[in-house]
Amino acid sequence: MRIGILGAGAMAEALGAGWARAGHDIVVAARDADRVTAAAARIGARAGTFAEAAAHGDAVLAALLHTATLDVVAPLAGALAGRAVIDCSNPVAAGPGGLMLTTDGGPSAARRIAAAVPGAHVVKAFNVCAAEVWANCPGGLAVPLCGDDAGALDVVRALVTDVGAIPLDAGGLDRAGYVEATAAFAIGVWFAGGDPRTVLPRVEHAQG
Ligand SMILES: NC(=O)c1ccc[n+]([C@@H]2O[C@H](COP(=O)([O-])OP(=O)(O)OC[C@H]3O[C@@H](n4cnc5c(N)ncnc54)[C@H](OP(=O)(O)O)[C@@H]3O)[C@@H](O)[C@H]2O)c1
Repeated sequence: MRIGILGAGAMAEALGAGWARAGHDIVVAARDADRVTAAAARIGARAGTFAEAAAHGDAVLAALLHTATLDVVAPLAGALAGRAVIDCSNPVAAGPGGLMLTTDGGPSAARRIAAAVPGAHVVKAFNVCAAEVWANCPGGLAVPLCGDDAGALDVVRALVTDVGAIPLDAGGLDRAGYVEATAAFAIGVWFAGGDPRTVLPRVEHAQG
């Protein structure tokens, strides 16, 4: 598959390297030419511009600082039309009581991206765990996916499998805010030294 990656930081590198190992053809892009060249070499990808990465990918990962994502993707709307756009962002910031969702009371980050690139098929994925986890995925880890386009979901399911994880359908894009809130909750509990997995029973015990 051809993959474009917007951003050359921790998530771009962790997911990109896994996809390169799986044999995908990747163009990675970032605003700093030296950083993107170095990141592309570590990933096993080619370096390009944002426009080249957007036009290259059957799937395009937006792996940008969440506050910069809309500014980067909106001008690429034409190139992104019809493509699977993976949003891994966590719209969070430190608040007085701990980590807070910055989207509270409004659309999720994923829906804001979908509104900025109306022809693209946005899928929320990979936001719950840290980049280090995607670089070395433990067995049995599921990735919740939210999206509205069946073809784009198929593409992202395959890319989840390629990093050693298990796709978990979590509903349409209107559910993405719940996955973003789940990440905010989990990160807060992890930072406090707790284990968020302990709040959920196994499925066979979910009804008591
Ligand atoms: N790291 C994690 O463990 C993790 C886990 C789950 C989800 N996420 C989400 O994944 C996304 C990427 O995180 P990351 O950890 O990979 O971040 P990162 O390492 O800080 O990389 C962020 C990328 O965004 C670029 N960027 C920042 N501001 C920009 C701007 N104004 N215009 C254009 N590009 C800009 C950076 O370019 P420069 O290098 O030039 O600044 C860099 O390429 C975030 O939305 C985050 O919430 C991260």
